[in-house]
Amino acid sequence: MIEPVNQISLLKPDDWHLHLRDGKILKGVVSHTADVFSRAIIMPNLDPPVTTLNQAKEYKKRIVQSIPSGSSFSPLMTAYLTDNMSPDELERGFIEGIFQAAKLYPVNVTTNSSYGVTDLSKIDNIFETMERINMPLLIHGEVNDLNVDVFDREAVFIERHLKPLLRRFPSLKVVLEHITTIDAIDFVENNKCDIAATITPHHLHINRNAMFLGGLRSDFYCLPTAKREIHRIALRRAATSGKACFFLGTDSAPHTRKFKESSCGCAGIFNAPFALESYLTVFEEEQALDNFEAFASINGARFYGLPQNRESITLVKRDVSVPEMFDVGLEGDPNNFVKPFHSGETLKWSVLRD
Ligand code: DOR
Ligand code: ZN
Repeated sequence: MIEPVNQISLLKPDDWHLHLRDGKILKGVVSHTADVFSRAIIMPNLDPPVTTLNQAKEYKKRIVQSIPSGSSFSPLMTAYLTDNMSPDELERGFIEGIFQAAKLYPVNVTTNSSYGVTDLSKIDNIFETMERINMPLLIHGEVNDLNVDVFDREAVFIERHLKPLLRRFPSLKVVLEHITTIDAIDFVENNKCDIAATITPHHLHINRNAMFLGGLRSDFYCLPTAKREIHRIALRRAATSGKACFFLGTDSAPHTRKFKESSCGCAGIFNAPFALESYLTVFEEEQALDNFEAFASINGARFYGLPQNRESITLVKRDVSVPEMFDVGLEGDPNNFVKPFHSGETLKWSVLRD
């Protein structure tokens, strides 16, 4: 008989896709990530977005000032690509270590993407530079074409835009972010090693039914949206496979109640407070605990060409109750609370804290 595993230790993980926001909420949000992750790739979709070296430096400063004292967490900054991004500034930012990567939002595909790229071929000069300097391109892979069904937008993006882009720039280093479909998994697995993907905890736990369970539930609305169950099953297989091309990226994206409980609720799921516990639950259910460290702590660093973390972290098999809401420091008004993923649930793993 196989003994049940009650404890797991691994190198400290990194989050390769994270939204921290800015202003008053920043401190109440970053503490959750800084608690258990060593590094995180910070999304630049602020309003206005992070498009210049100076903006990235200033935003990084504000993040660092908001990290709880004693934490060694480091934010890795990204540039938000627009039609007018200067290739020289991007290159300088990468060489100076300010920009770890650049993020491509096709215009109007998601939160604060109105400054995004209107036509990929317009910024071929940017892709040329990135390919030459080996700078990772992080892609929100959905088309903005309203005639395309919302559940097909990722698959159509791959055919219509990503494949042609890689034909033009075959050595471009790409992370297809927060993948949600079998089409994306196939695309990544069948490519060379310079194409990788992040996978969120929520896409491993929910399928699209979650958005419609007994009513319209914006808490489970994110972009790309969760898809059919067959896709969720395939994502669980990919994430837990141990393959180097798949790694952890939470896409934790906090929106306050005011913006979620609206007739036009915002896209985004705040999963940072229990992200590790959430992922680990999936790895245990898939009998793949041995592959958790590769997914959470090794594959991402290797892809980005960064050193592995030295510290480690331990999780134990002990129930933990996820709070219904988090007060993220916005004047205690419940309209300003943020609901976490797994709100009100009990998870079976806990991070061991000394
Ligand atoms: O669900 C999402 N929320 N997807 C994104 O691409 C953006 C994010 C956000 O910033 O809220
Ligand atoms: Zn995101």
